[in-house]
Amino acid sequence: MTTEMQSHFDVLLAEDRRYRPRPEFTSEANVSDPTIYEKAAADPEAFWAEQARELEWFTPWETVLEWDRPWAKWFRGGRMNASYNCLDRHLGTRGAKRAIVWEGEFGEERTLTYRELHCEVCRFANVLKHLGLRVGDRVAIYMGMVPELPIAMLACARIGCPHSVVFGGFSPESLSDRINDAEARVLITQDGGFRRGSVVPLKQNADAALERSASIEHVVVLRRAGDRAPVKMCEGRDRWWHELIEGVEDECDAEPLDSEHMLYILYTSGTTGKPKGIVHTTAGYLLGTALTTKWVFDLKEDDVYWCTADIGWVTGHSYIVYGPLANGATCVMYEGAPDYPDKDRFWDLVARHQVTVLYTAPTSIRMFMKWGAEYPQRHDLSSLRLLGSVGEPINPEAWVWYNQHIGGGRCPIVDTWWQTETGMILITPLPGLTETVPGSATVPFPGISASIVDENGEEIEPGTAAGYLCINHPWPAMFRTIFRDPDRFVENYWARFPGRYFTGDGAKQLENGYFAIIGRVDDVLNVAGHRIGTWEVESALIDSGDVAEAAVVGMQHEIKGQGIAAFVTLKGDIEGTDSEQEKLRRHVAEKIGPIARPDQIIFAADLPKTRSAKIMRRLLRDIADGRVLGDTTTLADPAVVEQLKSQYEAQGKTE
Ligand code: WT7
Repeated sequence: MTTEMQSHFDVLLAEDRRYRPRPEFTSEANVSDPTIYEKAAADPEAFWAEQARELEWFTPWETVLEWDRPWAKWFRGGRMNASYNCLDRHLGTRGAKRAIVWEGEFGEERTLTYRELHCEVCRFANVLKHLGLRVGDRVAIYMGMVPELPIAMLACARIGCPHSVVFGGFSPESLSDRINDAEARVLITQDGGFRRGSVVPLKQNADAALERSASIEHVVVLRRAGDRAPVKMCEGRDRWWHELIEGVEDECDAEPLDSEHMLYILYTSGTTGKPKGIVHTTAGYLLGTALTTKWVFDLKEDDVYWCTADIGWVTGHSYIVYGPLANGATCVMYEGAPDYPDKDRFWDLVARHQVTVLYTAPTSIRMFMKWGAEYPQRHDLSSLRLLGSVGEPINPEAWVWYNQHIGGGRCPIVDTWWQTETGMILITPLPGLTETVPGSATVPFPGISASIVDENGEEIEPGTAAGYLCINHPWPAMFRTIFRDPDRFVENYWARFPGRYFTGDGAKQLENGYFAIIGRVDDVLNVAGHRIGTWEVESALIDSGDVAEAAVVGMQHEIKGQGIAAFVTLKGDIEGTDSEQEKLRRHVAEKIGPIARPDQIIFAADLPKTRSAKIMRRLLRDIADGRVLGDTTTLADPAVVEQLKSQYEAQGKTE
């Protein structure tokens, strides 16, 4: 940890930086009894069991937790269905309540009540059955932010087909890798999506992906972009969504599934080139997401809740689809970009739909800050009563701006730490109880135990040093394995600190026990709140054919938090020109997706290596961030670094 960072942590707890919950908020809050933490800690299984009774079960469970480390089974023997819990359960009392309030990028609106959503889901579930899908078959979904995306997910869940949603910004190759790993039988996509007024050719990308993906038997195509995204339909393989649902029954019994039935796979980047298929199962996941939604966002019957994430990421799975719908909430869903047609689009949405709870990411908040307070000031944001943040550490400046300019100084902010693997929020304030400090996600949720440990797995005292963030006990929404790679599951997460789950994050506990997250300690970057493996970007660079060697590191970035810096040695006589830089950037974007596009490419004759030929990434990170260089004594050729530094200063231009 740098000294700069150390002093950053020292000031976090300063008295004038603490925000106590307002008594008016606490008196109405879903959780206002501070003994909840002790009660849950005294008997976590009893705590989770009590909460699980709030869900609807077809068959009650026999045991709450079976823990054969690291293999967990929650609510064994129980049978339930996530789609049933998100829909059917509400029909009696909330049939006419709005479930999804959708807005397209061009301003079109579509509202689905719980009854309507139930019909659409049932109808599409029947379509999937007619296509021959059976319990356990995997379905890949590659769509934009349209209501049919949650409809498709809930239809899969209804008939016991695990879904694998692939973010619509991923390339054909990323899509086909994910389809192949999951061996999906059906792909659900759309002709095109809209982003900042232009068309994302989803079906065309899917066609390219399917050239390399043999497991797909049927493709269902939703019409969204129409004439703006002409598509070729492959006879015998591709069918239009609207044709398939015609005349199909809108009742479909929800399959009574085992608690541990696989609900979905979601791929995330790790430290190798192959993305990890994170596996979530039914009952524990639904419990974890439903309860955290209710407690962390203090969800009330008349709230209008808006999580601005894309459903292609875990935030959307847990906190747009499963958690809020399990609570019978009204959820806003927006298709497009925050600056389309203008930079006040989000605030226009908040005001028009009277949003009460808003959940977004630090990278967006920093972007709003940069655009200026005049955009939120154009709108009446007084409907808001609670704000959330997720995806990366929120810097105190952004926290304070969010509080003042969006929350009007009256809304609690919940900084929620969690991961694709954890499925649910694990470290977070409870808004009626927890005193917050900008820059800290505060404390573990009731029933969760977290520690910071050193290299040897020894717990570090709060208020002393930084270390590795671990979770000490199983939790219901934990991922159960990596799809088809149980060894990697054990090695990656459970082997480094025996007895604990290792998150991959560095963190520090402040003197009062609050957790402040520093960031990833592995070769994974967090770019605008999205995980990208350095290895993935490096292999994409090599794949261009022009690159002999590449080393990718994170660099500080004003908006994205972390940007991507690539140090590249070109082959033979290829010249490191501006157009070569652009070519490589484009290649990476095409290969992985636009989010992986490097911010800086630095050409170098050599990369700094140790005498055992290991690339010294630490030095590259220092160069990329313009820091004074650390220890260079193990370097094989110190001249390389000096050369790199001057090259960096000369040509390192951020886009
Ligand atoms: C990584 C997980 C959880 C949904 C979005 C990202 C970082 C996430 C916070 C936070 C500090 C955070 C961590 C974590 N992270 N939330 N509130 N404060 N860091 O999911 O792609 O699985 O990434 O995001 O580094 O390990 P993900």
